[in-house]
Amino acid sequence: GEAHALRNGGFSFEGPFGSFDRNQLQRGYKVYREVCASCHSMDLMHFRTLAEPGGPFFDSHQASPAENRWVKALAKEVQIADIDTETGEPVMRDGTAADRFPNPYPNATAAAAANGGAAPPDLSVMAKARHGGANYIYSLLTGYAAVPQGLQIRPGQHYNMYMAGDLTPFMPEGAHVPPGGFIAMPAPLTAGQVTYDDDTVASVDQMAKDVAAYIAWASDPRQVQRKQTGVGVLIFLFIFAGITYLSYRRIWKGVA
Ligand code: HEM
Repeated sequence: GEAHALRNGGFSFEGPFGSFDRNQLQRGYKVYREVCASCHSMDLMHFRTLAEPGGPFFDSHQASPAENRWVKALAKEVQIADIDTETGEPVMRDGTAADRFPNPYPNATAAAAANGGAAPPDLSVMAKARHGGANYIYSLLTGYAAVPQGLQIRPGQHYNMYMAGDLTPFMPEGAHVPPGGFIAMPAPLTAGQVTYDDDTVASVDQMAKDVAAYIAWASDPRQVQRKQTGVGVLIFLFIFAGITYLSYRRIWKGVA
C-alpha cells in the first residue's frame, strides 16, 4: 500500500534551537519502564545515564550521575538478575545506578518465542533506526486501527497504519489496499495506564508522545549540546566576519 504520512508530535527538540522538555522525558521514562520494558530492552542505557547533563533526571546539585538521588530510587525499583558472590547461586537483587537496564528476556530465542516469532527490537537507538524518528514511534503507537474490511490477518498479527509493509497480497483482488502493515506487537498503550507524577493526563496520545521523546533522547543524548555548540559557532563566525570587514575597510581607507 501507499506510505502513510506520519503524525507530527510537535516535539520541542526539533529544529536548530530545539531542546528536550525535561518533564516530558521524565514522563516518557515512566512509560518505558512500566509498559515497554516488559518486552523491549534498552541495552545501551545504564540507570546513571538518566542523570547525565541534559538527561531527564539531571540535578545540578548531584556529585555525579551515579549519586543522583532520583536515579538511585528508580534503579532500586527494578530487579536485576545476578549471581550471589557467596553461594554462586543466581539471585534477583535491587538495581543500582551503575546497572544496565535489564533485558526482559534471557536471549533472542526466548524473546521471539514469547512474541509469536518476532523478537521485540532493542529501543536504545530506535529513534535513529527508523525513518521519521520520534514522529514514527509516536505514529506507530497511535496507529492501531480496526482491521480493514477484507484484510486477511494472521493470528498473532495486528494491523497498524504506520508499520512498513505491503498489504496487497492480503487483500481481495482489485480491492483498495490500505496503508501500513502487520505488526506482532499488540497495541501497548491504554488510557490511564501510567500515573504521571506531574498530573499530566495519561491519554494514549500523551503517553505515545512522551515515550517517543524519551526514546529520541536516549538515541542521541548529546544532540541538544551539539546544536547549542553549532549556534555558538555561527554567532562567532558572524561577529568575526563583521570585524574582518571593518578592518578591511580601515586598512584600505584612502588607498586608490
Ligand atoms: C516492535 C515500540 C511495547 C512487543 C516495536 C517497534 C517499536 C516499538 C518502535 C518497531 C516497529 C518497527 O519495526 O518499525 C514500543 C514502545 C512500547 C512497546 C515504545 C511501549 C509503549 C511493547 C510491548 C510488547 C511489544 C509491551 C509485548 C507485549 C513488540 C514486538 C515487536 C515490537 C513483538 C516486533 C514487531 C514486528 O516486527 O512485527 N515496538 N513497543 N512492544 N514490539 Fe514494541
